[in-house]
Amino acid sequence: MPVVIVVGVQWGDEGKGKIVDYLTEPANLVVRFQGGNNAGHTVIVEGQKTALKLIPSGILRPTARCLLAAGVVLDPHALLEEMKSLEDIDIKVTPERFGIAGEVTLILPYHKAIDGERENLRAGGRIGTTRKGIGPAYEDSVSRDAIRMADLFDEKHLRVLVERNVAKKNKYLKSVLECDVQFSPDEIFDELLEVAKTFKPYVTNVSSEVDKAIKADEFVVFEGAQGALLDISHGTYPFVTSSNTVAAYACVSGGFGPKAVDRVLGICKAYSTRVGSGPFPTEDTGADGDTLRDVGKEFGTVTGRPRRCGWFDVKAVQRAVRLNGIDSLIITKLDVLTGFSKLKLGTSYVLDGKKIEDLPVSHLDIERVEAQYEEIDGWQEDITAVRTLEELPSAARAFLDRVSEVVGCEIGGFSVGPDREQTILLDAGLRSYAALK
Ligand code: IMP
Repeated sequence: MPVVIVVGVQWGDEGKGKIVDYLTEPANLVVRFQGGNNAGHTVIVEGQKTALKLIPSGILRPTARCLLAAGVVLDPHALLEEMKSLEDIDIKVTPERFGIAGEVTLILPYHKAIDGERENLRAGGRIGTTRKGIGPAYEDSVSRDAIRMADLFDEKHLRVLVERNVAKKNKYLKSVLECDVQFSPDEIFDELLEVAKTFKPYVTNVSSEVDKAIKADEFVVFEGAQGALLDISHGTYPFVTSSNTVAAYACVSGGFGPKAVDRVLGICKAYSTRVGSGPFPTEDTGADGDTLRDVGKEFGTVTGRPRRCGWFDVKAVQRAVRLNGIDSLIITKLDVLTGFSKLKLGTSYVLDGKKIEDLPVSHLDIERVEAQYEEIDGWQEDITAVRTLEELPSAARAFLDRVSEVVGCEIGGFSVGPDREQTILLDAGLRSYAALK
């Protein structure tokens, strides 16, 4: 049985949660490997909608064990809320079903305040972060100031960490960000003692669990958040998130070696969206972009912000295929393209009058890139009831074939609606491992 990594190949919101949910029927372990509650996954099962931010979507299956690996940043309050909302629909998030790596960095109130204040100060140059404290928490991890899950269980040690961090952050907020918000070390310490009590039974050695699962030939799914173009090292920096979103980070965060990975699936919308600021070469700010937003219900799960919409960007997806080592692409939201007489594929870029093969490094250059389009015929038929490749109208099949050809990657499946039943998996390699329907 394989280790499969599922990642987004655009700017996030590609529908990873839904695909992971689909794959997790036979999965033993489902592991989230980066980001925090900046991500939002909506999974719809038999019409019931569940929004997940931190807990892997495998939790909606009766047996899969779900883990948060070392590279995740965790807001304990957000996690508690999510656990409660799952309980409201009769899904018990017990320590048997859910585990958290001791290495996970905690997002604390001062991280959120710093994230928000920095965005306010950036004014015109805003990144458009989710203001959930993601960046400041990762900074603490790298500077070795983080309070991690494992730090919660020694009160004396925790007290020292809290005092030191709160003093430092209060000073930074006041003197550098010129902000009046200040935090009380006592309050944060007391809150953390509560967090420690609640989460102690869930803390686990993720690397060891993953290792045992691999050795026992179990089916392990790694679930990424955001997308390749938001990767801190390879994305459209600085308009990126603060973690590595690419597949290789599943190994780093999950604590296992790259040779164990069997398959990397890239989740990709049939068009492009981006939330927050930053360059977006195939953005359509006209009527077609509005149609994609309305039909595709392109509003952020976490922040409710309208997403910027545009056409499929072949070069950007090609880059993501390379960065991740994608075996096959699952094209989501194909149904949203129904009704356009012509569809556009952004097939190349021109910068300063010259054709270029890849996105430039500097975001200033990416902003100046002009996307070149190829037009292909659309289709008018409602495809939401399609359950096989053969049932697709010929123009929709031709669209998938052309995407595969120009990107240079196999199409491993597609989806025609938000429900679990509306995902059609074609990836033969994966189907043979997973005995998926
Ligand atoms: P942060 O991750 O909150 O620091 O935000 C940095 C950038 O990543 C912003 O442009 C966000 O809109 C974007 N971002 C973060 N998480 C997601 C996501 O799950 N989907 C899409 N964009 C995201």
